[in-house]
Amino acid sequence: MPGYAGVLERYRPFLDIPAHTRTVTLLEGNTPLIPVPNLANALGGGFELYVKFEGMNPTGSFKDRGMTVAISEAYGHGAKSVICASTGNTAASAAAYAARAGMRCIVIIPAGKVATGKLAGAVAYGAEVIQIDGSFDDALNLVVGISERYPIALVNSLNPYRLEGQKTAAFEICESLGTAPDWLALPVGNAGNISAYWMGFQQLNTRENSGLPQILGVQAEGAAPLVLGHPVEHPETVATAIRIGKPARGEQALLAAEESNGRIIAVSDDEILVMQKHLARNGVWVEPASAAGVAGLAHEIQAGKINPKGKRVVAVCTGHGLKDPDIITHDMAKPQVLPAEMHALEDYLAREH
Ligand code: F0G
Repeated sequence: MPGYAGVLERYRPFLDIPAHTRTVTLLEGNTPLIPVPNLANALGGGFELYVKFEGMNPTGSFKDRGMTVAISEAYGHGAKSVICASTGNTAASAAAYAARAGMRCIVIIPAGKVATGKLAGAVAYGAEVIQIDGSFDDALNLVVGISERYPIALVNSLNPYRLEGQKTAAFEICESLGTAPDWLALPVGNAGNISAYWMGFQQLNTRENSGLPQILGVQAEGAAPLVLGHPVEHPETVATAIRIGKPARGEQALLAAEESNGRIIAVSDDEILVMQKHLARNGVWVEPASAAGVAGLAHEIQAGKINPKGKRVVAVCTGHGLKDPDIITHDMAKPQVLPAEMHALEDYLAREH
């Protein structure tokens, strides 16, 4: 796509943003919709399954779609500083776009619960990283309070411009497939993304009659407030990106699930990690939280609650596997060491594997 200029320029007429918005972009979006037929077959076959691989965005997660718009708006109205709470990906994304705009960026994260690649990203892009002895939910409370009292722009997904940007992924999916898919499965944490997708699909359907998917939102069992129907005081999951007990856009997410005739479910950490491996063996390495959507889909198909036959299903994989390398390296057997000699390699190849 020559001349591609990022999601804000590409979809500007369809975004509800103020005129003062001044584009700050890293050419995010335009991510691949990857067919995964082997995975579809493993789930019984007879349907089309695609992964919208949002890990291919510039900072490695879907957050860049919303961040380009939120930062462009803040930059356009003259903000000098931005702040966010984060489980890691929002922090890295905010840091990159703020750096691009020459703004100060402060990120508040739960101590010890942010994956290496995300923390490294936030630091590399020049954010001021503050760890708190508390959860993401505590961090969000702090940044909301600060942004109300100081001239610091809040760039969490409570900021409506984040959703304006993130809804562009729904547009891209419809463009790739020609219509909306029958089902869309995605992980749910603070619940901005599911809300944004539903906005996007509805908007396009009103404009172009593109159809609407049923939405399957997926939380981790240890952090599933929208499934339990109440906040979770001490959320816990291996999928640290969605380790959230009080989603800011929880009501909106429940509405999206209901209006789309879908639902929000929870899967176990084991299901998430098994699916992470499965996806990687299909060539798509995603971080644990990103495998949750597909894990939820598998869960529902195996339980006979979703019959995918003849359907087109899209699973959103929100962040790249490189974000959280430790989850892989922690348990892996060390690669074996051979002498740097031809016969050693020949012996190795001759052995049974
Ligand atoms: N997947 C990944 C990889 C995420 O980083 C997040 C959220 C989600 C899914 C859930 O999206 O919050 O819109 O429901 N990460 C936020 C962060 C909380 O701070 O990076 P959501």
